[in-house]
Amino acid sequence: MSIDLPLHRLLLDQWDRPADEDDETMLSRCTGPTLDVGCGPGRLTVALAGQGLVVLGIDVVSGAVGRTRERGGAALRRDVFETLPGEGRWETALLADGNVGIGGDPVALLRRLREVLDPRGRVVAEVAPPGTPHTVDWATLECDDERHVIRWSVVGIEDVDRIAHEAGLAVVERLRSGERWFAVLEEAA
Ligand SMILES: C[S@@+](CC[C@H](N)C(=O)[O-])C[C@H]1O[C@@H](n2cnc3c(N)ncnc32)[C@H](O)[C@@H]1O
Repeated sequence: MSIDLPLHRLLLDQWDRPADEDDETMLSRCTGPTLDVGCGPGRLTVALAGQGLVVLGIDVVSGAVGRTRERGGAALRRDVFETLPGEGRWETALLADGNVGIGGDPVALLRRLREVLDPRGRVVAEVAPPGTPHTVDWATLECDDERHVIRWSVVGIEDVDRIAHEAGLAVVERLRSGERWFAVLEEAA
């Protein structure tokens, strides 16, 4: 496989911290049964479960799934593009920390999430700040001695309307907390 630099380096230890005030802004938009897509070590899966939501974390890295379970969260080792439990019935899909970039094709990811969600459901996505160009390249995922190379995309708040529209969704809310930016997407009318 040839890889165009630059590579984003996603060290899963970076996501071991507990949910903070900025995370809470995003979590407050999650309602009903929630799929935490690319849950990493599960800090947000566990925070949502602590708020009484039914939540399942999914991740391609087995170490991440193990850590989520160790901290008490429900998690499966699963690629979001593979068959998932409860397809068509999830109320929220959470794409925290730039996970709208999973797979390197945000439109394809959002279309996939439309299959996974109840038609009245929503995507809660963390995006990059204004002025961030839309890019598609590669990332390495590193967790203990596991290492995966994946396609990765960066989506800024200014690109989210276009990407949502192409996927058949609409942006119904934009939020900022500190330096972090979020968008809530629902089925387009
Ligand atoms: C930026 S980290 C986010 C961690 C976590 N959401 C958080 O905010 O604490 C990205 C995560 O997405 C996972 N991931 C990447 N591609 C995936 C895929 N196709 N399906 C499911 N998870 C994936 C990675 O293994 C990694 O744990």
